[in-house]
Amino acid sequence: MGISRRTFLQLALGGAVAASTHRLVSAAPAHPYLKEAPMTFTLPPLPFDKAALEPHISAQTFDFHHGKHHNAYVTKLNELVAGTDYASMPLEEIITATAGKADKMAIFNNAAQHWNHSFFWQCLKPNGGGKPTGELAKRMDSDLGGYEKFAADFKAAAIGQFGSGWAWLVSDASGKLEIMKTANADLPLAHGKRALMTVDVWEHAYYLDYQNRRPDFVQTCLDKLINWDFVAKNYAGESFKVAA
Ligand SMILES: [Fe+2]
Repeated sequence: MGISRRTFLQLALGGAVAASTHRLVSAAPAHPYLKEAPMTFTLPPLPFDKAALEPHISAQTFDFHHGKHHNAYVTKLNELVAGTDYASMPLEEIITATAGKADKMAIFNNAAQHWNHSFFWQCLKPNGGGKPTGELAKRMDSDLGGYEKFAADFKAAAIGQFGSGWAWLVSDASGKLEIMKTANADLPLAHGKRALMTVDVWEHAYYLDYQNRRPDFVQTCLDKLINWDFVAKNYAGESFKVAA
């Protein structure tokens, strides 16, 4: 069976590339530097189009919140860990290693804010919100008095966080659900809790769309935007990790 010149060239070229790639790989020295190469953190893309949550959260808010604020935390974190032992650690290890250490506060703040925002984007989706279902809903009934009480208490925590911070649905080591609020960059991981869901209540999260109406922003997240599928995965034990 004959082959066309085009097919022959493709085969020949493919073989050459494969051979070249193999040579490069097999010739690469097993240099220890390669194993400990510092990780550079990158801004993860939003899991939806920046206009997908309109009219509840505008594309302009995401331009600033994701494109400027989150990006700035990533850039600053990379600057701060360059040349240190933290440069080769996963983000979650950097956070637990620096939590509560006054002389490492800048690294903690930027690492935690990178984690918090990466997590927050996943907590949102178009046509989300409302009540969870399945095991998470049952647990919400037994631990938090049902969805309506959870929503009221979560909103109260979010509104009651004085200044910048985050409201969370978390679980403890036994799986019990709790509502939590944290100031500034602080997060459940630093307190031995598993984050299941969060809403960012820094002013930069809502000011362009809601001005000072934080309660309306939080209520809209609960009613229209929360991605309960993602929250249920976290509840089921899937560990959310931020890739380097
Ligand atoms: Fe934020």
